[in-house]
Amino acid sequence: MSSEHSNGAVTLVTGGASGIGAATVRRLVADGHRVAVTGRDQAKLDAFVAELDAGERVVALAADTTDPASISGAVEAALKTFGRLDHVVANAGFSTHDNLADGDPAHWREMLLVNVLGPALLVKAALPALTESGGRIVMVGSTAGIKNTPGNMYSVSKSALTSFAENTRVLVTGSGVAVTLIAPGRVDTPFWESHPTGVVPDGPAMTPDHVAEAIVWSLAQPAGVEVNTVVVRPTGQVH
Ligand SMILES: NC(=O)c1ccc[n+]([C@@H]2O[C@H](COP(=O)([O-])OP(=O)(O)OC[C@H]3O[C@@H](n4cnc5c(N)ncnc54)[C@H](OP(=O)(O)O)[C@@H]3O)[C@@H](O)[C@H]2O)c1
Repeated sequence: MSSEHSNGAVTLVTGGASGIGAATVRRLVADGHRVAVTGRDQAKLDAFVAELDAGERVVALAADTTDPASISGAVEAALKTFGRLDHVVANAGFSTHDNLADGDPAHWREMLLVNVLGPALLVKAALPALTESGGRIVMVGSTAGIKNTPGNMYSVSKSALTSFAENTRVLVTGSGVAVTLIAPGRVDTPFWESHPTGVVPDGPAMTPDHVAEAIVWSLAQPAGVEVNTVVVRPTGQVH
């Protein structure tokens, strides 16, 4: 849906109750979108939606991004609530913040499922509705998926997502659906709470709003135009 029609556009954001997802939801609501927000914790979602105070323009949908029935249920619920779907933002993701030498492989399975399978399930579930609306898909990758971090399975998962974005683009070319990969550098969000230090590492970092701005900009392109890859780093970040 083009910028001239953004009023009332319907956007589904996965993992949208914190960090980059939450900043994106806030901006979309301010721009007149209707939004379906998913996450694993209904109480956390409800608290976030209450804070938005956007009435019936936002719906909270508890969904496990790695479960096909759960994610297609969320897409169906968004369609039932709003009657259409114009955009999906595959944002849910996390890092184990480790590497092949010291990491626990038990945690990599979940990370690969959330970061790679999750976006695939979302695209599969949403594609019929997006084809109907001539909609847009945004995938939140990472600079770690553009430049390899040695031995780091998060980097591998985001490299797979980088590839999946282009794979999806060539799949949907001709159907009127647009695909954008947003690859952020460091952002100060709860993502870093699972880091050994518990905080964003020393050095430059963006705010969630900086990345949300890039996401919303890519969704607001005129009809017939798609931005395919946006790499956005804090100035001074090397990799
Ligand atoms: N922060 C950074 O420096 C940075 C840099 C580059 C890319 N990214 C990417 O940006 C995206 C958003 O992250 P963020 O920085 O905004 O962090 P965040 O605040 O922790 O948000 C991540 C979201 O993903 C969902 N999620 C996390 N673990 C999950 C799991 N095991 N299963 C299902 N859903 C899960 C969470 O939803 P619920 O807990 O509500 O279910 C949460 O809302 C992620 O894809 C991340 O990889 C972040």
